[in-house]
Amino acid sequence: MADVIDELVDYTLSHFAFEEELMEEAGYPFCAAHKRVHEVFTKRVSEYRMRFQAGEDVVDELKSMLSRWLFNHIRNDDKAYSMQVRQHLDRFAREHQQGGWLTRTVMRLFRQAPVRP
Ligand SMILES: [Fe+2]
Repeated sequence: MADVIDELVDYTLSHFAFEEELMEEAGYPFCAAHKRVHEVFTKRVSEYRMRFQAGEDVVDELKSMLSRWLFNHIRNDDKAYSMQVRQHLDRFAREHQQGGWLTRTVMRLFRQAPVRP
């Protein structure tokens, strides 16, 4: 159980950091509020870890909180930014593709002819 809680904390922190980076990059206007929700959740999970380390059986409570929180958070908070992030990623992909084409073209135009013996 200690390993599961440790993994949960690690995964939560890295997942939230990734999500927050995406939201910031996409210019999501409610990013600060979403971050605050993540912080509150992280604090709650840390509290469960401390209670577990103090010898309390938190399994059922933690399982119930996790399933409710994750379901609601993904269905509401995460869904709210998904469109803006998707549009941002599509735009980035188009620009990146263009950059690739531009780079290939420039390389073709300026490539030296092979030296023949
Ligand atoms: Fe989130």
